[in-house]
Amino acid sequence: MAILKIAKMGHPVLLKKAKKVEDPTTPEIKQLVSDMLETLSDLGGSGVGLAAPQVHVSLQVVIFETSSSENKKPILTALINPKIEALTDETSIDWEGCLSIPGLRGQVVRPNKIKYSGLGLDGKKIETIAEGFDARVVQHECDHLLGILYPHRMTDLSSLQFVSEARHWINQDE
Ligand code: NI
Repeated sequence: MAILKIAKMGHPVLLKKAKKVEDPTTPEIKQLVSDMLETLSDLGGSGVGLAAPQVHVSLQVVIFETSSSENKKPILTALINPKIEALTDETSIDWEGCLSIPGLRGQVVRPNKIKYSGLGLDGKKIETIAEGFDARVVQHECDHLLGILYPHRMTDLSSLQFVSEARHWINQDE
């Protein structure tokens, strides 16, 4: 078990296309996912997902939290070699942040409903439909595997802001 160092925007690994994992059931991949989970948990709720390139490993591995249907604890998924398909033309705009871009947030337009698929650590296929913020989280994490960071997706950079600054102004000029 190890807490891994997070690559920040500017590190070339974040702009690379991550390689496909040949065998998701190897001890190396299990260890990587376990270290990513520990790293995310160490950050104490400041992130809801992590992609392997963010810990300097250019492989198609992501972990993310989605909400459970019964409003209980969030569901944590490890997904290998993921693919995303948009199930609607409807989009929404919402705030995103990223552990590789600490302190900032910005508004990003994304499809509302997606199907994501890939492999679990047991090598079995995972296929799930996600909507709303869950769909956003999965898309954000999978973007990391393509070398895409959320500011690259922003259509209006005027919403890019420091959270610490913006919180003083929330509700004042809306
Ligand atoms: Ni991110």
